Amino acid sequence: MAEDNKVHGINVDENDSWPGKVVGTNYLYRKNDNGELILNDRDTVEMCHAMGEIDDEEYAAEIAYIDEHEEQPDYKRIQIKRGGKKLVVFFSATGNTRKLAKTLADSIDADLHEIIPEKPYTTEDLNWQDRNSRSSIEMNDKTIRPAVANSVENIDQYDTIFIGFPIWWYVAPTIICTFLEQYDLRGMTIVPFATSGSSQMGHTNKEIGPSARGANIYEGKRFPVNASKEELKAWAEQF
Ligand SMILES: Cc1cc2nc3c(=O)[nH]c(=O)nc-3n(C[C@H](O)[C@H](O)[C@H](O)COP(=O)(O)O)c2cc1C
Repeated sequence: MAEDNKVHGINVDENDSWPGKVVGTNYLYRKNDNGELILNDRDTVEMCHAMGEIDDEEYAAEIAYIDEHEEQPDYKRIQIKRGGKKLVVFFSATGNTRKLAKTLADSIDADLHEIIPEKPYTTEDLNWQDRNSRSSIEMNDKTIRPAVANSVENIDQYDTIFIGFPIWWYVAPTIICTFLEQYDLRGMTIVPFATSGSSQMGHTNKEIGPSARGANIYEGKRFPVNASKEELKAWAEQF
């Protein structure tokens, strides 16, 4: 079926599994007419649709294709492979989460990456009592994606990302979604952590989950800024 070539997916090499080393999640793939392997699982299609790469009509056609072909022999399961390193990523507007993230990275010997906003947050931006402040506006419209100035090099060397942020209005700031949407995180283990005045993680995962399709996102944890190395290590080692 020539039509099959239109099905959206990611080319992979059967012998040299994409993209790294250590096993992650299983994905469906099939061969197109050129003999190339195309990842074509539900998560891929959902992600492409959510990111606007395919329209509603293409989306419906691809889901129908998967429904029809999923159990057929031309689909096989492969494993996404990733490197086995751990990364601690964080966003911090006033330094609390930075401190916690450094202790965490230190305690588990992980690499550390700070998410730098293209436009730094000023004190006025962070005024939650002002309905018109930048943070109020961003947190009132969850489709806003504050721009990020930097990125993680070679993210596929990692299989686990601890992602830290301050709790804003009971959840993660939307810049966390900007960060997650920069990468293909399928098969990645993602563990949120946070600092806050007193709030816990709330509905954080419900809000950031769609930005990391195909990743395994664990329920995260809020810590005091001065959490000890020992406490953080004991927590982090379960993932
Ligand atoms: C816009 C904004 C909203 C906040 N919302 C909450 C909240 O809902 N619950 C809470 O306990 N703390 C809230 N805080 C406090 C921060 O979560 C807390 O100060 C955090 O440790 C700041 O981390 P940072 O220094 O890494 O930016 C809010 C702070 C700001 C600036």
